[in-house]
Amino acid sequence: MAKWLDNAVFYEIYPQSFQDSNGDGIGDFRGIIQRLDYIRELGCNAIWINPCFLSPFGDAGYDVADYYTVAPRYGTNEDLKQLFAEAHRREMHVLLDLVPGHTSVEHPWFRESMKAERNEYTDRYVWTDSVWESPENMSCLRGISPRDGAVALNFFSMQPALNYGYHRITKSWQQSPDAPGPRATFQAMLDVIRFWLSMGCDGFRVDMAGSLVKNDEEGKGTIALWQKVRAFLDEEFPEAAFVSEWGEPDKSLQGGFHMDFLLHFGPSHYNDLFRCQHPFFSSEGKGDVYAFVEKYRENYEKSERKGLICIPSGNHDMDRLARRLSQEEMKLAFAFLLSMPGAPFLYYGDEIGMRYVEGLTSVEGGYARTGSRSPMQWDNTANNGFSSAAPEKLYIRTDDAADRPTVKAQMADKNSLYHEVRKLIGIRQSRPALQSRGEITFVYAEKNTCPLAYVRSDGRERILVIINPSASECRFDSRLPSGEVLYNYGEAARKEGGTFIVPPCSASFLTV
Ligand code: GLC
Ligand code: CA
Repeated sequence: MAKWLDNAVFYEIYPQSFQDSNGDGIGDFRGIIQRLDYIRELGCNAIWINPCFLSPFGDAGYDVADYYTVAPRYGTNEDLKQLFAEAHRREMHVLLDLVPGHTSVEHPWFRESMKAERNEYTDRYVWTDSVWESPENMSCLRGISPRDGAVALNFFSMQPALNYGYHRITKSWQQSPDAPGPRATFQAMLDVIRFWLSMGCDGFRVDMAGSLVKNDEEGKGTIALWQKVRAFLDEEFPEAAFVSEWGEPDKSLQGGFHMDFLLHFGPSHYNDLFRCQHPFFSSEGKGDVYAFVEKYRENYEKSERKGLICIPSGNHDMDRLARRLSQEEMKLAFAFLLSMPGAPFLYYGDEIGMRYVEGLTSVEGGYARTGSRSPMQWDNTANNGFSSAAPEKLYIRTDDAADRPTVKAQMADKNSLYHEVRKLIGIRQSRPALQSRGEITFVYAEKNTCPLAYVRSDGRERILVIINPSASECRFDSRLPSGEVLYNYGEAARKEGGTFIVPPCSASFLTV
């Protein structure tokens, strides 16, 4: 299994908004290549790029019209191949985004499947057998085709569901995952995976990975399907890494995913830490970490270390960290994110505390998500150094607040969030116990109180992490010894007798 994941730290790039190299107002592959050194210098050794394939962009590219060709606005397949090579030259790995659950209505497969005459693609999507019949528990499109049927939708109205079959069959038009139609869909997706991995891509982030087989409440059909993908990978691409947008690690890792995200939806309590009314990482000290830790522990046990549970700083679907947390508070949030097991994922711009841009009109199906997708803020030149286009040509307008953070200003200020994040990644990279596969044992995580404390260990070393986001000193009793201070933000925690004394707004990593 992909050894490189042991110390992987990922950087998520929303390609539209990272770096425009040709002045058309939208980011592209050459722009990403130009900025690889920046990402490497920050300490990240892997990137995930949101979907960059041909698409009408009704959902920012999550509506694919051709899985084999990149969207011209980003460059050519050759440019992407060069990006892989440039990343590898820097000992970095690249994940693309696979959207296996649905396509755009403009995909040729879908056009064929709309025809009344039977053809190769008739069973490629989930169709009922009458225009008046709706698929159970899903919305649908009807009256759009000569074919008499309604087609199930996975997300927006232009994203019809590909047919991987039904786990529980209750209607005559529902097919088993083993029926020829669903099997052909599966094979078609394997071909896509093989194509990009052969070109030099190192793996995929998989969109809505848990929803492929329908009527599958316990996930059994979908798990079985992904196990087949994993067997194929182990055989043909043993170094490839797959991370699922699933949010239920016990299922996804059983399905053979190398990693699963903890997400802002589902019962993860992830947002209790960063994005609720009283987040744990706020200095007001009203947040609660307990429910998160309970759930995390449960997932960690249930997933039996089959793979990694990844906690992102944010992503293209959620609010920016900076919407609730100050730069100082984000430093403590990163002390947590960068000392937890699993591979951390940094959303571009979070390392400088980029803000959610309020009041934007929706761009490419972003709606409320648009404010988290604004152009990267490199410096204080035109368009924050993102593009040389006229401001009104930009894909999304840049944050123009006078005090907006930029990479350049943060690099020049040694007390900045950027430097703290870089330092934290550096410490993680020098201590295997803090990396992906080091064990975690929670030491202190109680209801409505601070701090949060846990031990990371790898058999050779044990590191105690203590984080107190609140503005008041706190204490806890423990039999753990206190050794060398490896890292501290604010004043380091210290031990007096049997009690750890934890200064306000602080994070400490101690050998124990
Ligand atoms: C995932 C993506 C999101 C997209 C949706 C539909 O949740 O992260 O951006 O809109 O799937 O593909
Ligand atoms: Ca461009």
